[in-house]
Amino acid sequence: MRIVEATDYNNMSKIAADYIIEKVNMSPNIKLGLATGGTPLGIYANLKADHQKNGTSYQGVTTFNLDEYIGLSSDDPNSYRYYMDHNFFNHVDIQKSKTFVPQGKAEDIQKECAKYEELIVKHGGIDLQVLGIGSNGHIGFNEPGTSFDAETHVVDLTPLTIQANARFFQSIHEVPDRAITMGIATIMKSKEILLVISGESKKEALYRLMTGEIDVNFPASILKKHPSVTIVADKAAIGNLKVHS
Ligand code: PGA
Repeated sequence: MRIVEATDYNNMSKIAADYIIEKVNMSPNIKLGLATGGTPLGIYANLKADHQKNGTSYQGVTTFNLDEYIGLSSDDPNSYRYYMDHNFFNHVDIQKSKTFVPQGKAEDIQKECAKYEELIVKHGGIDLQVLGIGSNGHIGFNEPGTSFDAETHVVDLTPLTIQANARFFQSIHEVPDRAITMGIATIMKSKEILLVISGESKKEALYRLMTGEIDVNFPASILKKHPSVTIVADKAAIGNLKVHS
């Protein structure tokens, strides 16, 4: 795993966005894995600005999002489909039919998980997966204890994750307690991973990721086994950790 040190959140967002833009320009038909949450918002703002200024095209790009809340429809402002449309897809020339987010309102949720996994395989897999990390080490919604072998599946969100995500909802009681997420095996199959980490609240997670053992109780630790991981972290998240970038 390689760490690139950013000065602050904006710098992290710019570095990560430039990395993605370069890949899109090199491979216009790239399959991108995308993440939601607070951390990637700056990346999407940079991608949008770059599209407007430099015309980077997403016409040939296919995207797969990591996860979606169960029970929220695509037009619910708290759904990740809505987040992606409003923060990114609506502002670039991507074909909506090539943007995939698990369906949180699917009638048969188990079937939806299998279908999503198949869809990724059918497209030849993900070339570059963007990831955030939870303070408990979760990636996607793969909470501590999730098997490293899991493919796309249903998860019960931990109280910590529900609490962390409550900031996006009117009240904590509105946060769904289940989600569909790509599994760790799904994530590990992507050819390349770009992990973005910002802020002091993620310092411990980054420290544990860099210095700890591989452990199912800290899901992100499996990334040590992936051949191509780039971490872009800001100073607040890096703290005193020694990085060689
Ligand atoms: P955040 O979430 O970017 O909102 O902090 C990251 C994550 O939980 O994966």
